[in-house]
Parts: sequence; C-alpha cells; structure tokens
Amino acid sequence: MSILNKHKILETNVTLLLIFSFIVVTIGGIVQIAPLFYLENTIEEVEGMRPYSPLELQGREIYQREGCYVCHSQMIRPMRDEIERYGHYSLAAESMYDRPFQWGSKRTGPDLARVGGRYSDDWHVAHLEDPQSVVPESVMPKYAFLMHHTVHSSHIADYMKTHKLLGVPYTDEMIENAKADFAAQANPDSDYDGLLERYPGAQVRNFDGEPGISEMDALVAYLQMLGTLVDFSTFTPDASR
Ligand code: HEC
Repeated sequence: MSILNKHKILETNVTLLLIFSFIVVTIGGIVQIAPLFYLENTIEEVEGMRPYSPLELQGREIYQREGCYVCHSQMIRPMRDEIERYGHYSLAAESMYDRPFQWGSKRTGPDLARVGGRYSDDWHVAHLEDPQSVVPESVMPKYAFLMHHTVHSSHIADYMKTHKLLGVPYTDEMIENAKADFAAQANPDSDYDGLLERYPGAQVRNFDGEPGISEMDALVAYLQMLGTLVDFSTFTPDASR
C-alpha cells in the first residue's frame, strides 16, 4: 500500500481525520507555546526606560480620559516613511509601563510616540487650547478647559499602587513620595533632587506658565516626555533575539 493510499483511509473516514487533525494541531500548538513559559521576559531590556513620574502618570490619565488615543497612535512602525516622519521605530520596551497600552488603531492626527521635545510648552498649550490657532486646517477639538481644572494629588499614590499591582515596578519610596514629586515637577523653584533620582530625565517646569497645577500642566508634562527616555544615539538593537 503506497503512502497515498494510506492517506486515503484518513480522507474517507471523518472520525479518523478529526482525531489525526487534532493530534497535529496539538503538536504544533505545544511547539509554539511551550518555549514561552521558559522565557523570563519577552521584552528586550532597554536602558533609560523607567515608570512614569506621578505628574506624567496623571497627564497620561487625562490623555486616556479625553480619548486622545481615538485620533492618535503611539506606535511608529518599522517602515521607512514612518521613520523619516516620526523618528526611530517604537520598541516593545517603550510601552512596557503602559497600562493599558496607547498604541491606538487610527491616525486622524499624527503619531505621538516621539512628540516629546518636538514643540515648546507654549506651543502645546496654545495648540491644546485652540488647535486651529496654530494649524488652521486642524480637525482636533479644543481642550482649553484643562487650563482651568486644578489637579489634586490626593489620589496619586493610590493610582500608582494600582499600577504596581498590574506589574509596574513602583517602589515603596516612590509611592511614599508621590505627592511631593507630583508638586515638585511642576515647580522649578522646588527641591526636586529626589524626583530626579527616582525618575531620571524627568523634566521640571511650570508647563502651562500659570500658578497652580492644572490638568494642562500634567498633560503637557506627559506629552513632553513621550519617546524621550531611550537615547537612540547610543541604542543598538540586541541581535541575539
Ligand atoms: C478628532 C481627532 C483628534 C482628537 C480627539 C485629538 N487630536 Fe490631536 N491632532 C488631531 C489632528 C488632525 C492633528 C494634526 C493637526 C494639528 O496639529 O492640529 C493633531 C495634532 C496633535 C498634536 C501635534 C502633533 C505633531 O506631531 O504635530 C498633538 C501634540 C496632539 N494632537 C495632541 C492631542 C491630545 C493630547 C489630545 C487629547 C487631549 C488630542 N490630540 C486629541 C486630531 C485629534
């Protein structure tokens, strides 16, 4: 009996065909899935990545609340046109502390993964207050009210604890200092050494130029740090993976 004839037995017996299909799919599944259980981490470790500072985390919360992700992605694909427009393609590690991720699925506006440092704080404030004042043809809504909403730091430690529960490595020290760090980042006259030690590279400024900490301060602090943590002048992808 040739092998083809043997196969004919399978093809003409539906029960046997199902049993053998099941076996083949099971083997394939195990081969694909089992190795993942032995990898400690599927994300390449990249120097410079750190959890969000309290003020940035608050800004990120406002970003989610306002649905910015509906029109903006944060995921630069490894394709030439994207890299020329937005910069180095996004690394998995760059969204490792994002709960939930902000990759987005639609670009009515540009990708924001590396918008940090591209514009001044004043530009962001003017643009968020009235996008058409800086880009006349823009379809982006106005968010001027953010300027008049004060953010309080009373809940920020709890918010960080929640992220910790989800796997973000906030230390007890970070959580204890949450309120102080929150206030320090928006006030360049404060003592912010501790903040910089806990969150290297955090930018300390009065982001909206007004007294007090508004939702605008938090959102601009978040936008200005996007994509700035990894130094791509020294970054080399790990070729062993
Ligand atoms: C209805 C869709 C829409 C929503 C919602 C939206 N945007 Fe935009 N955004 C745009 C469009 C379109 C542009 C490009 C024109 C412009 O600069 O205004 C843009 C541009 C931007 C830019 C400039 C990016 C660059 O590289 O030039 C930033 C920053 C930005 N948006 C932030 C935000 C933030 C923060 C939110 C939420 C508070 C938001 N957007 C909500 C549509 C949107």
